[in-house]
Amino acid sequence: MESWRESRWINKMTVRLDFSHMISDFVGGIRGISRGEIDELAPRALAIDGNIEAERKAGDLGFYQLPYDMEAANAVLKRASHLQGKCDDFVVLGIGGSALGGIAIFRALCHPLHNLVSQADRGGTPRVFVLDNIDPATFTSVLRFIHPERAVFNVITKSGTTAETLSQFLIIRQMLIDRIGEESVREHLVVTTGVKGGQLRTLAEEEGYPLLSIPENVGGRFSVLSPVGLFPAAMFGVDILELLAGARYMDERCRTNQLWQNPAYLSGALHYLANVRKGLHIAVMMPYSDALIQVAYWFRQLWAEGLGKAETTSGEIVNVGQTPVVALGVTDQHSQLQLYSEGPFNKLITFLLVENSGETVVIPPPPEQMDGQSYLGGHGLEELMKSEAQATQFALTKAGRSNMSLILPEINPFTIGQLLFLLEVQTVFTGGLYDVNPMDQPGVEASKQYIYGMMGRIGFEDKAREAKEWQTRKGRYVI
Ligand code: PA5
Repeated sequence: MESWRESRWINKMTVRLDFSHMISDFVGGIRGISRGEIDELAPRALAIDGNIEAERKAGDLGFYQLPYDMEAANAVLKRASHLQGKCDDFVVLGIGGSALGGIAIFRALCHPLHNLVSQADRGGTPRVFVLDNIDPATFTSVLRFIHPERAVFNVITKSGTTAETLSQFLIIRQMLIDRIGEESVREHLVVTTGVKGGQLRTLAEEEGYPLLSIPENVGGRFSVLSPVGLFPAAMFGVDILELLAGARYMDERCRTNQLWQNPAYLSGALHYLANVRKGLHIAVMMPYSDALIQVAYWFRQLWAEGLGKAETTSGEIVNVGQTPVVALGVTDQHSQLQLYSEGPFNKLITFLLVENSGETVVIPPPPEQMDGQSYLGGHGLEELMKSEAQATQFALTKAGRSNMSLILPEINPFTIGQLLFLLEVQTVFTGGLYDVNPMDQPGVEASKQYIYGMMGRIGFEDKAREAKEWQTRKGRYVI
């Protein structure tokens, strides 16, 4: 443990995994997991941990190194402090792993109405817009709303070749050139790209756009703690050093090969067993906190792209992966819960719970015409939310529905750093259990090839022809 931390504070701020409601004692014998089933996985956990350690040492799993990369953190802080105060709006251009981490940090750690409160109330930081889609309606609305002359655009693409992000970049760059002249563009653009970011990197170097680098061994969806997530976070005013400290602390907690002691491995093992032995094919992540909803969306990509695979590492066709679903407590109790408690036995629900929301809102006693509701008076909204979360867990468990909880003592950069890192390690370990590569995404590449063909990229003419043929055949069945 880092010497500058008091252990009492650390204990109070530790993110914990409560998996009681996964175990057969609580949830019943049919879908519940026995202690013996977890014990059976222990030797595999030892082997997977050995592989992870070896890959980590060989530098193949670069995300493990990010919490320790102070050089990158300092470069980010330097660039952010140069820009803070000089811009009213900060716009992220990126997609998938190049956007979701930043969005998760923004929603978790910034004011819920960040863009609406005064600049002073948001600590002098700019308004924030993340353009992670290319819908022209949204794109134009944002550009018409902000003042590009007072904005900074952060284009984020590891490959430097993603059609969506590059299109956005080309539009913004031209707009800036037209409005403020070529010389000034470099004050409004920051390019975050891979060390081998290809032509985008070359252009940035030649035109003098500030560059932040994504290490080659860090995959897109594992890049939240690289400049991909850290630079936007620093621009949002988040303490990125605390985020990294939280991740390092979780790394220490997860650096044991003992399954029962490692929260990330244990959570991964429970997901795996629930899926392959108990038929729970859907992994719902349900935060009881608005601030954590985008963490659930970030995890949705990690789990889907990380584990949804056709082949094992040795090429055997398996078609594995749980379908990740996002729900929000308490809102979705009035939308999804009916299905979760009485529908098919195919879901594992992970609640994200926050012990101290930091806000007290007391419900006043109702007037006498509403005396049937007097039980609410004097209670707080936080108490109501916690009671609803507990009631939902009890009801689901009683109905034999497996669920577990990741508990944050409060939401701050240190706990968010822990949570993000835990979920990354969980994904890598679970990839080991399925024996798939959690780092690649061949299924996404296939669609990219058709996009290139349809948009006329040289070398993809056969894909263009194939796409046209599909369109013609489909016509018969459209009414
Ligand atoms: O996880 C991944 O690797 C992907 O989701 C990528 O992040 C996404 O496709 C964007 O890629 P890039 O950063 O190269 O533009």
